[in-house]
Amino acid sequence: SARLNMFSLGWRSFAQLPEFGDVCTEGSCYPATGDLLIGRAHKLTASSTCGIEKPERFCIVDTLSLLPRSLEKYDERMNHTTSHSIENLVTTFAPNRLKTWWQSENGVENVTIQLNLEAEFHFTHLIMTFKTFRPATMVIERSMDFGEKWQVYRYYSYNCESAFPGISVGPMVKVDDIICDSRYSDIEPSAEGEVIFRVLDPAFEIEDPYSPRIQNMLKITNLRVQFTKLHTLGDNLLDSRDEVTEKYYYALFDMVVRGNCFCYGHASKCAPVDGIHVGTEGMVHGHCMCNHNTEGLNCEHCKDFYNDLPWRPAEGRNTNACKMCECNHHSRSCHFDMAVYLSTGNVSGGVCDECQHDTMGRQCEQCRPFYYQHPERHLRDPNICEPCSCDPTGSLQGGVCDGRTDVSAGLIAGQCRCKTSVEGERCDHCRQGHYGLGQGPNGCLQCTCNPLGTLPGGSPCDMDTGNCFCKRLVTGRNCDRCLPQHWGLSNDMDGCRPCDCDQGGAVNNDCSPISGQCQCREHMYGRRCDQVESGYYFIALDHYTYEAEEAKHGPGVTVVPRPYPLNRSPTWTGAGFVKVPEGAHLEFHINNLPDSMDYDMLIRYEPQLPDQWEQVEIRVIRPYSMRVGQPASPCENTLQGGDQQLVSLLPGSRHVLLPRPVCLEKGRNYTVRLSLPLYSSLSDVQSPYTLIDSLVLIPRVRELLLFEGSQGEGAWDTFQRYRCLESSQSVIKSPMTDICNNYIFSVSALLHQGAMACQCDSQGSLSAVCDPSGGQCQCRPNVAGRNCDRCAPATFLFSPLGCRSE
Ligand SMILES: *[C@@H]1O[C@H](CO)[C@@H](O)[C@H](O)[C@H]1NC(C)=O
Ligand SMILES: *[C@@H]1O[C@H](CO)[C@@H](O)[C@H](O)[C@H]1NC(C)=O
Ligand SMILES: *[C@@H]1O[C@H](CO)[C@@H](O)[C@H](O)[C@H]1NC(C)=O
Repeated sequence: SARLNMFSLGWRSFAQLPEFGDVCTEGSCYPATGDLLIGRAHKLTASSTCGIEKPERFCIVDTLSLLPRSLEKYDERMNHTTSHSIENLVTTFAPNRLKTWWQSENGVENVTIQLNLEAEFHFTHLIMTFKTFRPATMVIERSMDFGEKWQVYRYYSYNCESAFPGISVGPMVKVDDIICDSRYSDIEPSAEGEVIFRVLDPAFEIEDPYSPRIQNMLKITNLRVQFTKLHTLGDNLLDSRDEVTEKYYYALFDMVVRGNCFCYGHASKCAPVDGIHVGTEGMVHGHCMCNHNTEGLNCEHCKDFYNDLPWRPAEGRNTNACKMCECNHHSRSCHFDMAVYLSTGNVSGGVCDECQHDTMGRQCEQCRPFYYQHPERHLRDPNICEPCSCDPTGSLQGGVCDGRTDVSAGLIAGQCRCKTSVEGERCDHCRQGHYGLGQGPNGCLQCTCNPLGTLPGGSPCDMDTGNCFCKRLVTGRNCDRCLPQHWGLSNDMDGCRPCDCDQGGAVNNDCSPISGQCQCREHMYGRRCDQVESGYYFIALDHYTYEAEEAKHGPGVTVVPRPYPLNRSPTWTGAGFVKVPEGAHLEFHINNLPDSMDYDMLIRYEPQLPDQWEQVEIRVIRPYSMRVGQPASPCENTLQGGDQQLVSLLPGSRHVLLPRPVCLEKGRNYTVRLSLPLYSSLSDVQSPYTLIDSLVLIPRVRELLLFEGSQGEGAWDTFQRYRCLESSQSVIKSPMTDICNNYIFSVSALLHQGAMACQCDSQGSLSAVCDPSGGQCQCRPNVAGRNCDRCAPATFLFSPLGCRSE
């Protein structure tokens, strides 16, 4: 009956936990309970067993008589099947149950029985059935770490206060209180007395059997029972006589260690731990057959790749199963990270390890930097990530592109992010107005063009070099300078204006780039140097006029004065004419030439009767030294045939140009001899003669710098078209056009290297300032000449008041 009792107690006790949690899918589940000793007899040890060293006698005492009932003798070494070894405590269903037991050596008070398990087990209760008196004092202890540390489950004593001073004698207040119990230490009964220890006292209602506290109470790897005091029925054990000691020993028929394998609610079955002999029926094995994606001997951790949630014991309806990591097929391993788990509100804590296919992130759900998520591929596609194509020199962060499309965040998968001065899908060219990809903090440098000098529209500078695109008349890398001989950088179409310096009035065609001021020759002014200062003038083309009246007259030559003033414009210059008969001559003396060059010779005359004409001979008499020729002479090459010419004075004109120009040198004296050849002595009425007014030397302006080159060619065309030269030949002049005036101004300045000073006679002039064009002074009454230095014809007495007429 004791045995039945024992088993029924076991089941009842465990009924607090769900029985046979077979259906692990619906929540926590538990393997069946059983006797942990079955199959583990060899794991059970006793510190003392009788009959091992030598045969021992022992006495069986009846408590009623307190006398020895019988005396048996037993030799352990001789017969194992009927021995008193510790294995006998393991329950068998053999019929001769009460014939086998374990028994300690006589008189040994401190005896330990210990069970060593191969894994963690749930332990619910312990039942011991004694053959003789139960111990006066004992302790039940367990270890959860294979014997490293031990904890007391419960103390038992006949007299708790003296055996375990300081330990509570109960009743228990908390389910895990450690108390000293005296119920099982009585001297009665003397045989088949039981000790029952339940880990969870039935007096307590267990609210949460899955709580770590409760689970922890049940966990064992080792169980130890220490017997520390024998009941001695008044004998003193110090009395070592055999008849005393043979009465006192510990002896147990049975021991049941009830429990099951410890799987934290994740398994309903257990398998043998490796290396454990499997043969015994009814054995409770220690290796959980784990569900809920757990593994380990006790399902104490999650399976590989099931680390998305923290491992937890199953609780009631909650499997608390481990959850597979989501790595989107880009990784096969992961680990649990508590910080991540908390940050997701306890939803997911799995972190994938070593993401492949250029992915990254906790779930390999993003592309690595410098890769982007292909918008049309599935996240699990091995080719999900494409490399960015950004030019690293023009992109932010060395060429990282947007990894994915996210409209709300403004992200577009694969889009490059250009530095501020860069643009283009790949960020590989400079924005308008910038150049030099890769330079400067903004990816390109700003063009430094001057807007005034730069062509409008389009990029102002070359994208590679930064050279600005200049307007036609502008130069410089930044288009901030006018071309040489230009000035006034402005918004004009061409950007600058030509200096356009007067070719005679200015030293050259360079001008100030800002004011445009040309460098004037002396006594010239104006931006272009195209004006003479007050008191200066520029010549007329017939400036070098030599009056016949003032020439050296040969024999027979007479002066023909003309009245003055006249009622018509004079057709002559000076005081009048000279009459030159056939065979006579005049000699003009020339010593004031401004430059060495060719001169056209013009003869002004007064025509005779309509059908009469004369031929005159002109001869230039050069100074002697020139005749032998000096290599330095500018006229060296033009001497041949130029010195003697014939020309006819036609009656329809008042001037005639000699067929060829003559070359004359500055600073030399020449004599020009004009003579009328003697043809025949036809002197019937009167001998033929002619009236000569003057000889004019007109510089061959065509040779001047002004008319050289292609630009000069055009100027020459204009000069001719406006007949600037012709109008200088006649004495009677039509008003000069501005264009001719300007040319003649330049010619004069070129010939004279500047302006001519007025030479107004102080007596004959009203002012020292002459006409800037031609140099005519303002004469007092009856005073004549360009310099107002002589009396007009038919007047006399040159004085500060002028001249007096008759
Ligand atoms: C041991 O004892 C049993 C029964 O008591 C007996 O059958 C057996 O022969 C004995 N063996 C030895 C070796 O004495
Ligand atoms: C038995 O153990 C107890 C406590 O561990 C000790 O006080 C006592 O002396 C021991 N007795 C013997 C006989 O070794
Ligand atoms: C999340 O889990 C942690 C650790 O298990 C726990 O301390 C915390 O209370 C949980 N928080 C929530 C919101 O469940």
